[in-house]
Amino acid sequence: MAVYKIAVLKGDGIGPEVVNSALRVLKRLGELSGVSFEFEEGLIGGIAIDQKGEPLPQETLELCLKADAVLLGAVGGPKWDNLPTSKRPEKGLLQIRKALDLYANLRPAKVYEPLISASPLKEEVARGTDFIVIRELTGDVYYGEPRGIFIENGKRVGINTMKYTEDEIRRVVKKAFEVALKRRKKLTSVDKSNVLEVSGLWRDIVEEEKKNYPDVEVEHLYVDNCAMQIVRRPSSFDVIVTGNIFGDILSDEAAVITGSLGMLPSASLGEKYALYEPVHGSAPDIAGKGIANPIATILSTAMMLRYSFNLEKLANAIEKAVELTLQKGYRTPDIYSEGCIKVGTEQMTDAIINSLEEIWEGL
Ligand code: IPM
Ligand code: MG
Repeated sequence: MAVYKIAVLKGDGIGPEVVNSALRVLKRLGELSGVSFEFEEGLIGGIAIDQKGEPLPQETLELCLKADAVLLGAVGGPKWDNLPTSKRPEKGLLQIRKALDLYANLRPAKVYEPLISASPLKEEVARGTDFIVIRELTGDVYYGEPRGIFIENGKRVGINTMKYTEDEIRRVVKKAFEVALKRRKKLTSVDKSNVLEVSGLWRDIVEEEKKNYPDVEVEHLYVDNCAMQIVRRPSSFDVIVTGNIFGDILSDEAAVITGSLGMLPSASLGEKYALYEPVHGSAPDIAGKGIANPIATILSTAMMLRYSFNLEKLANAIEKAVELTLQKGYRTPDIYSEGCIKVGTEQMTDAIINSLEEIWEGL
């Protein structure tokens, strides 16, 4: 029987609380299914800065390189906000993405019918929304050189460089076509090719690859227009593929229209490694209070089971258990509405484990 080795990086803020919940769910699922999971912990983010002097210590990276997948909580908090960019907790995230070559970031945006009233959009607009943003994660203006603050003619100038090689574009575009094939077969590619040469190249590559995926319908949108269409017709999207900076922005927009940021998982995939984490951040304001919503992290483990371990049945079990728990009316404060059962992190986790036990036999 295979043993799946998971590197666990709990991080800061609510990170440890939500990751602990996810581990409890995974352990129970392991018992039910006979699959073994092994967890080993490493430090990342602010806690790593405090204990080791850097946001991504070498030993954490080595742990991740040896593991079959990485589960991450969240990094950052006010305590470290005044450090220079190169020493902040977020730098640990950027370093691990690059070191594991996690070039495709999958961020599903799904409106859950029991939570539809939490969407800031009108119900009739939000209903049925179920798309996934695939954001390139290891290139673009995030990593391009030159970068920095320099002096020109006695004045400071800030410089970052938007840069993509065709290979970098092609691999993420291919990944997006493949994901689209398994879904509703519609791909929206987002760029700013009316202004940027980098985007012109991006669009060319999408057009070239389109020929290899004749079953997928392709739409190109400029990023500003896409930002608008996401709030006007969100249910018309299936897969959106875009570069790092546009994807950063659009994926937050996509997350908020679902009304349930605390519910959204993500996967960051490369050829050899994969990392799974909730879309939400470390939420320092509620850390330690026992009220954080663990669902995004629990659903991130479902993505891990699906994309890294090919355990579709187990992934489904987790997703179904979450839906059943919502149907039963359990809500953490962030998704609470009147008439529902308000619970904290631990009780939500218990409720999901109960649902998992109920549905497992029938799957
Ligand atoms: C994200 C975050 C990060 C990013 C920050 C924290 C560096 O906003 O994961 O979307 O910009 O990639
Ligand atoms: Mg972001």
